[in-house]
Amino acid sequence: MEKVKTADDSVTLYSDKYKETFHTMSGAIEESFKKFVEPCNLKPGMTILEIGFGLGYNCLAAIHSIKKIKIIALEKDKEVLEAMQDLEVLDKFKADFEIVKIAAKNLHYKDDNIKIMIILGDAVDTIKELNEEFDAVFLDAFSPPKNPELWTLEFFKDVKKLMKKDAVLATYSYARKVRENLTNAGFSVRDGPVVGRRSPSTLAFNES
Ligand SMILES: C[S@@+](CC[C@H](N)C(=O)[O-])C[C@H]1O[C@@H](n2cnc3c(N)ncnc32)[C@H](O)[C@@H]1O
Repeated sequence: MEKVKTADDSVTLYSDKYKETFHTMSGAIEESFKKFVEPCNLKPGMTILEIGFGLGYNCLAAIHSIKKIKIIALEKDKEVLEAMQDLEVLDKFKADFEIVKIAAKNLHYKDDNIKIMIILGDAVDTIKELNEEFDAVFLDAFSPPKNPELWTLEFFKDVKKLMKKDAVLATYSYARKVRENLTNAGFSVRDGPVVGRRSPSTLAFNES
């Protein structure tokens, strides 16, 4: 997987399997903060579900922003967890990224304030084994055409079952079909922030 520098100076990887970069070229780490962490309005003590751990940047942004947090991340590719160990981040993120790297190496990390657990396997299956209630969900798969199993109505229904009332799901995709599946799964869908392009991202609220 080749390293690619993005516009905020953070580095992402190009996935040979999916023929896509792991993040937007307008800024990999910026995307984690602006499209995932900030719109979810996270509070200390919250529990987050990350779908697609990838290079761990969403986890990094979450623990950098909220000092007491629990994250459960789903990831199917062990190679990705190994590849992210070689990545470097800006000095201000280094300490937190070391924590994320430990989590990726051991599949878990725990201190007095931060708990990260990574569940290896296909999220379509592992989501069904979770027995946890989430305050927020980061849905960060590759694009719907390349990674279709994580954007289906059935998968969204499984995700919604695990979310607390008024919990929010954030995703970068604004595809019509994705929003239609989220709506049919029972979410209230709204525009998320516009970052690095003209279209908004998507926020889906579990209001029922
Ligand atoms: C766009 S990347 C995620 C980027 C990541 N959130 C970050 O902050 O660096 C998508 C990730 O989803 C993983 N993935 C794709 N299909 C999956 C599946 N069915 N189950 C679990 N993980 C999957 C890929 O291996 C990849 O690491």
